[in-house]
Amino acid sequence: MTDTTLALLPEQIDALLTDETNSITNLANASALLMQSLKDINWVGFYLFNHKTNTLDLGPFQGKVACMHIKNGTGVCGTAFQQQSVTRVANVHDFPGHIACDSASNSELVIPLIKAGQGYGVLDIDSPEFDRFTADDEALLITFVHKLMAHLAI
Ligand code: SME
Repeated sequence: MTDTTLALLPEQIDALLTDETNSITNLANASALLMQSLKDINWVGFYLFNHKTNTLDLGPFQGKVACMHIKNGTGVCGTAFQQQSVTRVANVHDFPGHIACDSASNSELVIPLIKAGQGYGVLDIDSPEFDRFTADDEALLITFVHKLMAHLAI
């Protein structure tokens, strides 16, 4: 996809999910849309916060089999979620406690999901390229996530 087409991703997800109220259905197609649109990625999907266990549990995704539970505060995903901060890692091997689900992954972008002021989960995107994600990618995917959150139930 060209950069111009990529810029349409937030509008695309909004249109695609119109009138669908099942959150799992919406997360599944959001992960598929990202997998078919972003170049040089090997895994994209969602971890959803389970407040009973204080873990992020594997949700809809595209890619290889992945770890199913991540403790809040651990790995790239758990750290991004606990700190509620977008986390862009140029080299995952330098990230303390990085959890290697797919050994092909070398860089990663994690965006926390917030719904009604509460931590809902994270969007996690992995790439086999080092330093795959730019500040522009980050900004675009934050906008994508904002559009997506409007289609998820609490
Ligand atoms: N690398 C992540 C774990 C999830 S997999 O990449 C799909 C982490 O360190 O949290």
